[in-house]
Amino acid sequence: MKTNKLWIALPLLCSTFCAAEEFPKFPFTLLPLEPFFDNQAASVNGSIADFDGQGNSFDGQFLPVGSYAYDGITYQLPTIWGTGNDNVIANSQTLSLSNSTFVHELHALYSGDNSGDATFTVDRFMLTFLDGSTQTLTLEASNWWGWPDLNPGIIQTPYSLQTNGTSKNFNHTSIFQWSTAVSSEQPLTSITFPEVNPGHRLHLFSMAFSPSNNSVADGPSLVVRRARFTSRWEMVNNTRAQAVHITIANLLPTSSLSFNTSVNSQHTIEISGPGITTVTPGMVYRLVPGDQARVDVLITGSTTGSNATITIKNSTGKVVGTSTGWPVTALLTHYSADTASLSAHETPTWWRKAKYGIFIHWGVYSYPAWAPPSEYAEWYNYYLHNPPNSSSPTWVHHLATYGQNILYDDFISDFTASKFNASAWLDLFDRAGAKYFVQVTKHHDGFALFDTGNTTNRSSVILGPKRDLLKELFDTAAAEKPHIHRGTYYSLPEWFNPDYAKYGFGEWPGGLARNPFNTTPTFEPYTGHLDISDYIEDLQYPHMLTLATQYNTEIMWCDIGGPNNTLDFAAEFYNHALANGYQVTMNNRCGAVPDFNTPEYETFNSIQTSSWESNEGMDPFSYGLNTATNASEYKNGTTIIQTLVDIVSKNGNFLLDIGPTAEGEIIAPMADNLLEAGVWLEYAGDCVYDTEYWFQTSQDPNPQNGLAPARFTTTPTTFCIVAFDAPTENELVIHKRLPLLPGDAITLLTPGKNQSSLAWSTDSSGNLIINVPASMVGEIQYAWAFKATYNLAEPSDLYYISQQYD
Ligand SMILES: *[C@@H]1O[C@H](CO)[C@@H](O)[C@H](O)[C@H]1NC(C)=O
Ligand SMILES: *[C@@H]1O[C@H](CO)[C@@H](O)[C@H](O)[C@H]1NC(C)=O
Ligand SMILES: *[C@@H]1O[C@H](CO)[C@@H](O)[C@H](O)[C@H]1NC(C)=O
Ligand SMILES: *[C@@H]1O[C@H](CO)[C@@H](O)[C@H](O)[C@H]1NC(C)=O
Ligand SMILES: *[C@@H]1O[C@H](CO)[C@@H](O)[C@H](O)[C@H]1NC(C)=O
Ligand SMILES: *[C@@H]1O[C@H](CO)[C@@H](O)[C@H](O)[C@H]1NC(C)=O
Ligand SMILES: *[C@@H]1O[C@H](CO)[C@@H](O)[C@H](O)[C@H]1NC(C)=O
Ligand SMILES: *[C@@H]1O[C@H](CO)[C@@H](O)[C@H](O)[C@H]1NC(C)=O
Ligand SMILES: *[C@@H]1O[C@H](CO)[C@@H](O)[C@H](O)[C@H]1NC(C)=O
Ligand SMILES: *[C@@H]1O[C@H](CO)[C@@H](O)[C@H](O)[C@H]1NC(C)=O
Ligand SMILES: *[C@@H]1O[C@H](CO)[C@@H](O)[C@H](O)[C@H]1NC(C)=O
Ligand SMILES: *[C@@H]1O[C@H](CO)[C@@H](O)[C@H](O)[C@H]1NC(C)=O
Repeated sequence: MKTNKLWIALPLLCSTFCAAEEFPKFPFTLLPLEPFFDNQAASVNGSIADFDGQGNSFDGQFLPVGSYAYDGITYQLPTIWGTGNDNVIANSQTLSLSNSTFVHELHALYSGDNSGDATFTVDRFMLTFLDGSTQTLTLEASNWWGWPDLNPGIIQTPYSLQTNGTSKNFNHTSIFQWSTAVSSEQPLTSITFPEVNPGHRLHLFSMAFSPSNNSVADGPSLVVRRARFTSRWEMVNNTRAQAVHITIANLLPTSSLSFNTSVNSQHTIEISGPGITTVTPGMVYRLVPGDQARVDVLITGSTTGSNATITIKNSTGKVVGTSTGWPVTALLTHYSADTASLSAHETPTWWRKAKYGIFIHWGVYSYPAWAPPSEYAEWYNYYLHNPPNSSSPTWVHHLATYGQNILYDDFISDFTASKFNASAWLDLFDRAGAKYFVQVTKHHDGFALFDTGNTTNRSSVILGPKRDLLKELFDTAAAEKPHIHRGTYYSLPEWFNPDYAKYGFGEWPGGLARNPFNTTPTFEPYTGHLDISDYIEDLQYPHMLTLATQYNTEIMWCDIGGPNNTLDFAAEFYNHALANGYQVTMNNRCGAVPDFNTPEYETFNSIQTSSWESNEGMDPFSYGLNTATNASEYKNGTTIIQTLVDIVSKNGNFLLDIGPTAEGEIIAPMADNLLEAGVWLEYAGDCVYDTEYWFQTSQDPNPQNGLAPARFTTTPTTFCIVAFDAPTENELVIHKRLPLLPGDAITLLTPGKNQSSLAWSTDSSGNLIINVPASMVGEIQYAWAFKATYNLAEPSDLYYISQQYD
């Protein structure tokens, strides 16, 4: 009896009195870049610097000097800028590590030197390991400044210096940060920088790596990689609880994978600190060597300026270790109209889980519904005037189809919405598997689909259908499909609004359109225009507020950026949502403080750790309906599913666009393709919705026989492998050690009920081989989703299982 009591009492005593073991800090070592420096990025006090090869430079007075800490890594920057070379232009140089060592993660501060647009360059680093094997790491390098979409880096300066400092460009100019997983199968011996890409060169300012822990371990080597006190929250017991995003790493090298070196049972993560209560702990069930797990812990009572402690407990409630000194940022309960406050905002949890949305380009342009290949049909009115002659295919088409007396605004009465049925649309989106939609509420033609009050009569409420189309859609969605989130696209500029002339730029000059056929009138009317004094104050800003506070949009998806009142807007938008108990988000085209990046008809080649969403039309090159496109060219089930899964494996969302007709119908070929994809998502959605990217890589690095590489996604208790080609010869082989342990159950997600576990094994290099009966392969279209469910039995049971599998 006495002995038993002692055994029970000990853990309690220990949790009260024993000092819990503090985890080591996440390690890093600087890489010696200085010997490679061959470029001067920054100018100070008139010194000459030529960052981009065109005489343009950073103004060094705005750049941080010396040690620069970000996300757990302390980089080294010049102690004085503007006095000599301060970066290296990647040009296939090889940096050898003096001591080869197992590496967990690589880090860099960089900028691309292209400018004038917001595109990225794909740069590939080649890593060489001790046994001669290699790994390619892909960086989607952002350019030092981009326009018009915002893509701010971690270090920002208010302008760049042009032509040897004689003038300034007032677009934000940035240095960016990148961290990426490294294979730790073998010690790393050298890093070869990307090949130079003339005109899009990659500049490296500082680099570091985080070594693996290669000690002989009898347990995982855990560290807290990061702890971010976010702007996201959830209601727990009628209290708003803040999400703290915690990343835990197991620093052992991947090659040491076994039960003993992995977390393989429920571990809880709690946070303590002055005033802090953990209301919902985070749960980590599986964390293998070389991997990282990310999890939200919900807390109340945080105070900015204090420090928090993170505690990990195992399934018996025993403290595994703690990590102290994490700076706390309290949950924002009110946003003010300044960059500091608004930049703390981030994409809400629902948006991150949703993955898949439908974009709807519907407006007056849906009537002509025409564009030549590689032009957007919703840009009809622009191309009708640019250029206003036979070298514009749209001008030629218009003249031939409608004659010279019909102007764009004459199409307003043809935009009837006569067959628009909001219930039918929502039902289609739901069956398609979409979790949100974004309706175009006003495109560059300035025609709104919502009630614009006294700002303008150029809307569907006053003209054309004389209906509040947005209200019908939103009200129906709220009533019939409340699980589908509601978003609005809004174009900040208008091509031909006379009040925009004062602000016009680029392809959005403002000012009345000149009649492209030189008939009367010389200037076209801007139908519905009301007399206002300022476009931003009297139209753009009120419209955005209306969408936020009258229609309660959950996504403000702006386009083009340019002149704006977005700081004021964002504060109103976020505070309105907070006051009403929901969470909203804003994209990177509103001119300020973006939550997420929006590559257009483009996706990324590698994992992006910040929020992003690709948008593409179902049409190969149009958002609005283009009747000149053959429907056979639309994205089919295969393309939709594979694009979606690829994006999700890289931490993005997919916003797939459809273009309804002027009558408000979604044509059968578009609806059919959406439904095809929806069928797959119905049985394989577990590998898409509410998943996370896998830290180590998004895809099989070395697929066999020219097959498309499989993609990976994870949840706390599962790991998914989605193959884009049907497995052949009754097996699927993955050339990567995955976070799987003997006893895990792998099933192929099929439309049928037949989802029995498949036999699987690993070879001596850790490659995975799954046996796949041919009969099951044939049941599936578009993509083959294998879901591994972790076997979380107790260690003793697992040891027994491992013997069985040996
Ligand atoms: C630039 O000029 C300012 C003011 O004259 C001076 O304080 C600063 O040290 C100078 N910086 C460099 C790098 O010369
Ligand atoms: C390399 O290893 C040696 C011996 O362990 C050590 O003294 C030295 O500091 C290491 N160098 C680096 C750059 O880590
Ligand atoms: C910038 O200054 C350098 C050195 O004085 C000169 O060679 C170059 O032509 C200048 N470039 C421009 C664009 O003015
Ligand atoms: C940003 O860059 C664009 C493209 O060069 C330019 O037209 C615009 O004037 C710049 N904006 C500012 C605020 O300097
Ligand atoms: C390395 O792992 C061992 C075994 O888990 C652990 O005791 C040690 O603290 C770890 N060292 C570091 C620097 O993380
Ligand atoms: C794991 O631990 C058990 C029990 O301590 C031991 O018998 C076994 O050999 C270990 N396995 C490995 C792979 O280290
Ligand atoms: C929420 O309230 C219930 C019922 O009062 C209570 O049992 C539970 O512990 C509370 N949960 C938290 C996280 O406070
Ligand atoms: C929890 O931790 C304690 C102490 O380290 C250990 O004895 C026990 O086996 C662990 N339990 C599990 C399920 O990991
Ligand atoms: C928080 O921790 C850091 C070290 O991690 C320490 O420098 C700082 O003083 C602490 N702040 C408070 C308020 O305890
Ligand atoms: C529109 O109405 C609002 C509220 O009545 C008023 O404040 C605003 O000045 C009006 N705007 C214009 C352009 O008439
Ligand atoms: C948005 O407006 C702010 C404030 O007027 C301005 O500084 C910023 O340059 C604008 N954004 C864009 C992309 O033009
Ligand atoms: C789907 O579209 C892709 C890309 O256009 C094409 O290669 C494929 O053959 C199509 N699949 C079917 C079943 O039509």
